[in-house]
Amino acid sequence: MAEHFLEDSVSAVAVRIDAEHPSGLVFDPHQPQLRVTDLGVVRGDGVFETMLARDGQVRKFEAHLQRLARSARLTEIGIPPAESWRSAVQRGLDEFRNRGGLPDEVTIRLTATRGVDGEPASDDPAFAGTYWALLSPVSEEIKAKRGAPIAVTLLDRGHDATAAERAPWLLLSAKTLSYAVNMAALRWAKSHGFDDVIFTTSDGHILEAPTSTVLLLRKNPDEPQRPTLLTPILETGILPGTTQGAIFTAAERAGWNLGYGPLTPEDLYTADHLWLVSSVRLASPVARVEDRELAVDPTWTQKLNEFLNQDLPVQHPTT
Ligand SMILES: Cc1ncc(COP(=O)(O)O)c(C=O)c1O
Repeated sequence: MAEHFLEDSVSAVAVRIDAEHPSGLVFDPHQPQLRVTDLGVVRGDGVFETMLARDGQVRKFEAHLQRLARSARLTEIGIPPAESWRSAVQRGLDEFRNRGGLPDEVTIRLTATRGVDGEPASDDPAFAGTYWALLSPVSEEIKAKRGAPIAVTLLDRGHDATAAERAPWLLLSAKTLSYAVNMAALRWAKSHGFDDVIFTTSDGHILEAPTSTVLLLRKNPDEPQRPTLLTPILETGILPGTTQGAIFTAAERAGWNLGYGPLTPEDLYTADHLWLVSSVRLASPVARVEDRELAVDPTWTQKLNEFLNQDLPVQHPTT
């Protein structure tokens, strides 16, 4: 589902940000724009965010901008201020309106690269790199797949649970452009009969999926309406998911219990329900992990998606 980041390339809208156009300039995404010496392409040296706009409203906009700023800090890439990104996105949405129609759902990808090696685009570090927003309608295929049960394989990420702390240069929790490994893991899963992947550490902790966060539900027999939602701790170096964070805020308001665990495969197998969640796919129920079947209940999936519709501020234990 997530491998085609440009979901409807024909009608995509692109807006670049630079020192001369700090509020964004619409450009044609089908014409060459990027220099071949841009470190974003040469080394995957950049950061990005993928967001969902419904009916012209960007969901969790603030959380995405904060995470973009965090990734930029971790990679030491200067980026334009939040208001530049906000107005560039607004220009992109307006461009759809000017063309005769804003799609009900739009995927918005914000990208910032370190720019061309040795040739900063501006003396102002906030505009020294290359920056753009790409907006594309969410395809019918993606919409149709939402809520469909998936099978997941557990794949070793090749480092232990302490790597994020020991080796910060690995940028484990930054959303960098270097997603080739994540895409390779997805291809591996597909060629072995699975839809998606949950990465584990070499010492048996659950991390995250290549483009989603892991969320599990344990029922509470004494209070059926107040189950517990669990997600892996961030200290292992996973990306702080905005979808998980928004679900947690709404769930807490609804009186549910929340937990952040060092989770193991056994926790997944014994969960009452399990999902992979992210901004565009929303909540995908997991029906199988390796050869272990898991119960799928559309009512709970719908509940999580209702929580997301509330578009509440994102909640994490540490950020
Ligand atoms: C590695 C990884 N984890 C988790 C997520 C989910 O993040 P969000 O819920 O903010 O979309 C993503 C999103 O692309 C991701 O790439």
